[in-house]
Amino acid sequence: MSENSNDSRRDFVKTAALAAAVLAAKDAGFPAIAKGASPMILSPLPWADNALEPFISKNTISFHYGKHHKTYVDTLNGLVAGKPEADLDLVSIVKGAAGKADKTAIFNSAAQAWNHTFYWNSLRPKGDAKMPKEIAGKIEASFGGGYEGFKKEFSDAAMGQFGSGWAWLVADGGKLKVVKTPNAENPLTTAATPLLTLDVWEHAYYLDYQNRRKDYVAAVVDNLLNWDFAAKNLPKG
Ligand code: FE2
Repeated sequence: MSENSNDSRRDFVKTAALAAAVLAAKDAGFPAIAKGASPMILSPLPWADNALEPFISKNTISFHYGKHHKTYVDTLNGLVAGKPEADLDLVSIVKGAAGKADKTAIFNSAAQAWNHTFYWNSLRPKGDAKMPKEIAGKIEASFGGGYEGFKKEFSDAAMGQFGSGWAWLVADGGKLKVVKTPNAENPLTTAATPLLTLDVWEHAYYLDYQNRRKDYVAAVVDNLLNWDFAAKNLPKG
């Protein structure tokens, strides 16, 4: 067999393994990228690119997913090529690079690759329609004013994040909390478990809402949050 044939076969085996990993991860709820899935792949969107209209347009999704998210994945693959990180899963890369001055570029691309896949899965058409009772109970127990209290705290975090960043609903110490992070930072580097996120980088809303972040936040919180996804992310036990 020629060297080229071997390369082709290796590529085929790798592609088939990646496809299987994606399918398995989809079944598990969140398409976490499987260990050894290098190069990292751009996780598929969980809905059609126009499914979030009229709140988030197909045009925004095409740039946000097809350009911004893709660039984070492509940049990460370039940065880790030939390095130990190339054999790690995405979460391990994020945790391993966090806080290390010589790994800032890897951290930023890996965290943004992970954050965006988590964000797509945090949204769904008509997301506010129902909430599984296990998460509804925790919302009631964790926020003064119940769901309205959560909405206010989450929206305030999204509005209060100065510049680029993220608002998160997390589970921490048996309760739910809202946190915000700047730039690529995320709760994976803390003891908290992320349940939902909202991207408040300008690229997430500028085409649809220009500078009106408040309108984007309200549209998402009132219409698009995926509570089934949040419930699946709750720590077991
Ligand atoms: Fe983004």
